[in-house]
Amino acid sequence: LGRRRPRARALGLALALAAGGAVARDVPLRAQRWLAPGTDVVAALAFTPTECLTKPTDPQHAYSVEVGRAAFRTPVLLGGQAARAGVNCETCHRGGRTNPDFQFPGVSGAPGTADVTSSLFSSHRGDGIDDPKPIPDLSGPKARLKIAQAPADHALEPFIHGLIVEEFDGPEPSPAVLQGLADYVRALSPAACPAGPQPVTVQALMADARRALSAARAAQARGDRPTAVLMVAAARTRLGLIDERYTDAGLAPERERLRAADARLAAAAQALREGRPQADADLAAWLRDAPPLETALIRAQPRSLFNPRRLAAGA
Ligand code: HEC
Repeated sequence: LGRRRPRARALGLALALAAGGAVARDVPLRAQRWLAPGTDVVAALAFTPTECLTKPTDPQHAYSVEVGRAAFRTPVLLGGQAARAGVNCETCHRGGRTNPDFQFPGVSGAPGTADVTSSLFSSHRGDGIDDPKPIPDLSGPKARLKIAQAPADHALEPFIHGLIVEEFDGPEPSPAVLQGLADYVRALSPAACPAGPQPVTVQALMADARRALSAARAAQARGDRPTAVLMVAAARTRLGLIDERYTDAGLAPERERLRAADARLAAAAQALREGRPQADADLAAWLRDAPPLETALIRAQPRSLFNPRRLAAGA
């Protein structure tokens, strides 16, 4: 604590180093790069904290929360450096909560801490001091959190905007994505916490991908192309998390199917960007074709790194 270092873009720089391989260890799963030494890999990577989310009943509000939920899990949201390192909001706030095992060179002090708000809290602004803070549980009691969440306070949106654009040096988020992230954080609460932790599975990641693609279609229907494109990126992130666990040589057929499915999403994203009407039909067709893909992946799951025993042996 208290060391001097260049303040601007500290987080982006640290992530760039990690992405460039300077500190990256040769490990199968990306998330292992930010596990504190000595962490129980199976407990940290075969399981995830449960998400404490209350789904709103109002359709517009529900849409916004779904957009935020997907964006929260998408490295592209945070821009190039974070995207290359695979870091997203959920890296630190797992399942919308905390991450006691997180330790990233140049960003963390003790495990479970990070310095992300240097330029955001006026008391620290520009002071040039390393000041890692415990990663807060965003699903904890609202009264314990620092940033007021009542919509009328208008505090959460600027805070999240600052995180993305200033701390991570990311691109300007679309208005719907910023609103969605704030609405997602507001919809997390201790009252909605299922017992946990829950296993990390193909089923859960595919369900996330489907939710993100439904949000993409809803964004497209609203004429919101940038949000739709980010939602497709969110779905592709989930496929990537499946892919990195299907490393065994015997799993080549599953890997190929998964990569073909990902290529279809890449093409759909390109169609969205170019404003081709075909894009929505592509996404609908992808969703129709997802169940057989998922069945094939589930059948092979015991031979993948989703199997805690394989993970323990391979990690
Ligand atoms: C590198 C780890 C990391 C990442 C990535 C990260 N956060 Fe955080 N977040 C933290 C830490 C640490 C704090 C506490 C900062 C403090 O107390 O000064 C925090 C604080 C917050 C808070 C304020 C909590 C309060 O007390 O009111 C919100 C909201 C939040 N983060 C949301 C997000 C969102 C949304 C993203 C993605 C855009 C994100 N975080 C990405 C580590 C992270």
